Amino acid sequence: MKALILVGGFGTRLRPLTLSVPKPLVEFANKPMILHQIEALKAIGVTEVVLAINYQPELMLNFLKEFEKKLEIKITCSQETEPLGTAGPLALARDKLIDGSDEPFFVLNSDVINEYPLKEMIEFHKSHGGEASIMVTKVDEPSKYGVVVMEETTGKVEKFVEKPKIFVGNKINAGIYLLNPSVLDRIELRPTSIEKEIFPKIAGEQKLYAMVLPGFWMDIGQPKDYITGLRLYLDSLRKKSSAKLASGSHIVGNVLVDETAVIGDGCLIGPDVAIGPDCVIESGVRLSRCTVMRGVRIKKHACISSSIIGWHSTIGRWARVENMTILGEDVHVGDEVYSNGGVVLPHKEIKSSILKPEIVM
Ligand code: GDD
Ligand code: MG
Repeated sequence: MKALILVGGFGTRLRPLTLSVPKPLVEFANKPMILHQIEALKAIGVTEVVLAINYQPELMLNFLKEFEKKLEIKITCSQETEPLGTAGPLALARDKLIDGSDEPFFVLNSDVINEYPLKEMIEFHKSHGGEASIMVTKVDEPSKYGVVVMEETTGKVEKFVEKPKIFVGNKINAGIYLLNPSVLDRIELRPTSIEKEIFPKIAGEQKLYAMVLPGFWMDIGQPKDYITGLRLYLDSLRKKSSAKLASGSHIVGNVLVDETAVIGDGCLIGPDVAIGPDCVIESGVRLSRCTVMRGVRIKKHACISSSIIGWHSTIGRWARVENMTILGEDVHVGDEVYSNGGVVLPHKEIKSSILKPEIVM
């Protein structure tokens, strides 16, 4: 079985992190986002993953080489010379996706995180006999997603509306599809959107079916959602394999700590924290609801909440970093500095406090 991951887009909403690495390689819970997906695909028997990509394919392939071997899965790139949207890349990768058989293939958005119930999806796809299956999930704010109106009992999709201006419903496209090869016959090789041009047509012919995704779901392509997503992911990890989470008197709630990270005395860490490899957390530090990427040093008595600290940054003593502060790679926050929602570009030194949310160039 094959799968295609839509890896394009510039990840602008996740800047400044995506100024250093492409969005799919940004770590989420100490693992590049795309690896969560490749591992889930491998687990249900996918043998080849095609990355639909429109920039820096070498970077991605080089990075994934190691995992290709480790996971024993073939990873190839299908590179666009211009961004082809969310459907065009499928037409471009046509020959890679079909091999004469009539087997359906998976398509995933690269920035969604969930428990990947892909086995259940295959069963669902077989059961309805339509042309395409999509996963849907309920959200409070559906307007920034693709909204799906479906027949509750059968899952048959009556309407698919991408980013509706007026309320249509609260079940949204979760960005996980299982498509019959015949769907490729509907897609032209040009920039085109699967959500706006393809799904509404298949739904119109009553051949599009939706399955309500069991478990949590989040599009982690924006900082606020990334931080919420980590909480949901760690909750789920607690239920599934709690041994992976940190424990001890200095830990509160769900915390993930890489084994190479060093944590000093008298720290209080959690809930909902991920600490990456080679980090040094000095004594008396307080961390909650945050991600600390590889190689970060947090000096004594600093306090970080609801923030993301980019690779190899340092946080000074007694510094206070909070309210969706996002530090790019190699940012240095001085002692006693306060950041209230600062978004700081890579390689900066912050000597004075950032009192209100703003971008520091
Ligand atoms: N190869 C390629 N080329 N990939 C692309 C391109 C392109 O030109 N444009 C976007 N993508 C990829 C993105 O990297 C992402 O993985 C996926 O397609 C969806 O694009 P986003 O930019 O993240 O879209 P969105 O989040 O606004 O909306 C989409 O996802 C929602 C769920 O998170 C839609 O599919 C919505 O219907 C859906 O609800
Ligand atoms: Mg997205």
